[in-house]
Amino acid sequence: EDEGGLKPRPPVVTIMGHVDHGKTSLLDALRNANVVAGEAGGITQHIGAYQVERNGQKVTFIDTPGHAAFTQMRARGAKATDIVILVVAADDGVKPQTKEAIAHAKAAGVPIIVAINKIDKPAADPNRVRTELLQDEIVVESMGGDVIEVEVSALKGTNLDKLVEMILLQAEVLELQANPDRTAEGIVIEAQLDKGRGPVATVLVQKGTLHVGDILVAGAEWARVRAMLDENGNQVKVAEPSKPVEVLGFQGTPEAGDRVAVVENEARAREIVDYRQRQ
Ligand code: GTP
Ligand code: NA
Ligand code: MG
Repeated sequence: EDEGGLKPRPPVVTIMGHVDHGKTSLLDALRNANVVAGEAGGITQHIGAYQVERNGQKVTFIDTPGHAAFTQMRARGAKATDIVILVVAADDGVKPQTKEAIAHAKAAGVPIIVAINKIDKPAADPNRVRTELLQDEIVVESMGGDVIEVEVSALKGTNLDKLVEMILLQAEVLELQANPDRTAEGIVIEAQLDKGRGPVATVLVQKGTLHVGDILVAGAEWARVRAMLDENGNQVKVAEPSKPVEVLGFQGTPEAGDRVAVVENEARAREIVDYRQRQ
């Protein structure tokens, strides 16, 4: 089905690390650097995933709230991410959740890029971080290993371009591809019941192109896609591989980690959902 139609797709990157080591700050910094132009009067609404663009190259970041969602997705056999950014605060070093994140990434077979954060702090000791990482068999390049590391400050914006550059470099090695010219498949990153809008799911498209009007099944729920919104709240008509979008039109609320597949019609969607809801 994919023969002949494979095209390069942007990398999907998950940011992980210990509490307060700066995951959200890093995401915000990367995002702000990108969306300034499109912000005119708009309120940026948070969705669990978004795309940034540097020099015409896109990167999709997943803002996984804690490791639970990541673990849940992995337990369901869903591979949502291509690269893990491991954030380690340079003034705090390797902590229990740093180790957990390493274990998750290793178990999923996903390459790690280490972002040594908070290098602006007087107490920052990036070499201590490098040494501590050896305990978990993470050997960074400057210590002769093959794990890329970048010293950053989310607060000051230091080396963020370098981090994106390293992500793109790693992505090139992975030769990430998908066929945009087929019916869409993907994964639910997060979902909730919105008072005004009904069930809303953030869907990461992994194969094919998702269109407004498509009928899709996600886990034990289905939708006729009424609208799709990007990370800035702008409506989009199509979503290509590696694109995260908020999807409106679900009959019920799916779950994070649910697989998404477009089906031929509503009757088929109902048939699949009826079956799954009886399981
Ligand atoms: P949790 O989601 O709660 O696990 O935290 P987090 O990893 O998302 O960290 P968060 O971005 O909330 O940052 C925690 C604190 O560290 C905040 O007070 C940030 O302002 C601060 N911080 C984050 N990055 C930097 C940095 O590069 N330098 C300095 N000095 N402070 C930072
Ligand atoms: Na925090
Ligand atoms: Mg956070």
